[in-house]
Amino acid sequence: MSEMKKEINAKEISPAVIKRLPRYYRYLGELVENEVVRISSKDLSERMKVTASQIRQDLNNFGGFGQQGYGYNVQYLYNEIGKILGLDRTNNIIIIGAGNLGQALANYNFEKRGFKTIGLFDANPRLVGINVRGIEIHDIGELEEFVKNNEVQLAALTLPKQHAHQMALELMSYGVKAFWNFAPIDLNLPDDVIVENVHLADSLMTLSYRIHSREEE
Ligand code: NAI
Repeated sequence: MSEMKKEINAKEISPAVIKRLPRYYRYLGELVENEVVRISSKDLSERMKVTASQIRQDLNNFGGFGQQGYGYNVQYLYNEIGKILGLDRTNNIIIIGAGNLGQALANYNFEKRGFKTIGLFDANPRLVGINVRGIEIHDIGELEEFVKNNEVQLAALTLPKQHAHQMALELMSYGVKAFWNFAPIDLNLPDDVIVENVHLADSLMTLSYRIHSREEE
């Protein structure tokens, strides 16, 4: 079956679509695992509870269509979305703050998604030397040397909020350009630095709003 494939430039895709891509990637990944070769926008829309027209609009960015009635080639779309998300490359992560959250992140294997945790760092000497899923907790004093000797694409900030901004600046001075920030503060960093904030409490507040507005109905 001939497929329409086009060169995809991530910059041409709107941020709103990019935000939805991880979910498509997850669903398509499950289909790949279940050896599903193709799927219609209608079937995908029923699984994902998104309208078929939204799916068609979003996935039009990626080509990968067969003839009409064929639906989407699952493996092709999965690969293309993975490339757009940069998941075909490995991104090394270091985690700063090896307490409850830092260790929980290290215990989770993000490698399937292209992220490899290569080091944990903490200021508490009692934690230094401990292994978490085979990943060593280093003294924070070793940070500069470690970053200079390893490719570090991303730093997760899981330390107390009063230290987070200073730590981000220090890491930037060693060349780290992307942060996965869990500390509950807004980092004010230059435009060429990428910051993705994860605040579970924000998500809970949205949930709270939805629970209460349902009660009021
Ligand atoms: P924790 O107290 O268990 O761990 C913090 C670790 O950071 C400790 O091991 C401490 O020794 C280390 N640390 C302190 N100052 C440091 C420094 N200057 N350099 C290196 N390490 C340093 O705390 P927990 O529960 O793991 O939380 C960590 C951070 O994540 C806090 O800022 C917390 O508010 C935040 N958090 C965010 C969540 C989110 O949804 N974004 C959820 C839970 C916690």
